[in-house]
Amino acid sequence: TPLPITDALGRPLRDLRISVTDRCNLRCTYCMPAEIFGPDYAFLPQSELLSFEEISRVSRLLVGLGVQKLRLTGGEPLLRRDLPTLVAALVEISGVQDLAMTTNGLLLPRFAADLKAAGLQRVTVSLDALDAETFGQMNGLGVSPERVLAGIDAALSAGLGVKLNTVVKRGVNDAALAEFWRELRGKAVVRFIEFMDVGNHNGWNLESVVPSAEVIERLAGNDLTFTPLPPRHPGEVATRFRSSDGFEVGAISSVTAPFCGNCSRLRLSATGSLYTCLFATQGYGLKEPLRAGETDAQLLERLQGLWQARRDRYSEERGEVTRSSKIEMSFIGG
Ligand code: GTP
Ligand code: 5AD
Ligand code: SF4
Ligand code: SF4
Repeated sequence: TPLPITDALGRPLRDLRISVTDRCNLRCTYCMPAEIFGPDYAFLPQSELLSFEEISRVSRLLVGLGVQKLRLTGGEPLLRRDLPTLVAALVEISGVQDLAMTTNGLLLPRFAADLKAAGLQRVTVSLDALDAETFGQMNGLGVSPERVLAGIDAALSAGLGVKLNTVVKRGVNDAALAEFWRELRGKAVVRFIEFMDVGNHNGWNLESVVPSAEVIERLAGNDLTFTPLPPRHPGEVATRFRSSDGFEVGAISSVTAPFCGNCSRLRLSATGSLYTCLFATQGYGLKEPLRAGETDAQLLERLQGLWQARRDRYSEERGEVTRSSKIEMSFIGG
């Protein structure tokens, strides 16, 4: 049997993020701006997507190489038909310790109970503002925050763990962060994310980034103070804090405090390409060998070679390198 492996910088492979579709029912300005992803945008045809059997097989092989945590993403993963069926297959892989999904929440009222029954443990729901105008503008379609809140409540009622992801953009949703957090912290842990230069179309600039340190400062005040909490596992993306009145909050600081040093994440696209970094410009195509009938041993050799050669640390190099034609966030799923 294969053994856990490390990359060229000594980092183990722990985390697999699986994108199941490149489609989304929102058009967040920082991810899939409506001007680019318009009515004529060519999304992937069904025939190019990996089947659930193929996804499960790749996942099982990677669990053999050290992966412990699986996360389903998109686009919006709940737009993939029968997603609970995939969840049920992934749960069967022995060695999977954590099975989560990143979603915009809109379809959770319909699917939360089925996902839970299939074995999903938790969801991370994206929500950027509680003010209807601000959120409507950020999601590009005028969708109201109440619809996401209904999804969060559906997940909680179904017994799923819930975390929230909030991308912060200066001058857009940063004025109301303290209010946002006070309103939601009783429901779920909120993680504030620094706006990142992922993809090629989101008009990123450093001035729009609110450093996490400033976010935490804004939450403080009125005698409220924050104490950093130790990471729960090496390579944890969010830095956690506890407020003096007992609530947890997270900060994801990919711009001001990159965390490539112990990055153990591998990403599988809906078309079966593997990306060793969120900011990669090229993937490793696994679909062809999969469909050419290669054996598990042959595929394992490819996977092992790919990870062992890995040297990616884009967020730490940002500024030294500029990349064109990066992979889109909606294609690789955060
Ligand atoms: P937990 O397991 O609940 O801690 O979730 P997580 O933080 O691993 O995953 P999640 O999908 O919630 O990640 C939150 C956000 O952090 C993503 O949507 C990305 O914006 C960002 N992020 C996650 N992984 C990486 C990474 O490897 N590199 C960079 N630069 N950003 C990342
Ligand atoms: N910067 C930071 N986070 C982003 N996400 C998408 N695009 C960006 C970006 N440019 C996050 C969303 C969602 C997850 C899928 O990725 O908030 O939670
Ligand atoms: Fe869709 Fe999530 Fe991207 Fe928003 S951030 S457009 S919800 S995939
Ligand atoms: Fe990992 Fe690349 Fe993100 Fe660094 S920039 S943490 S190497 S995915």
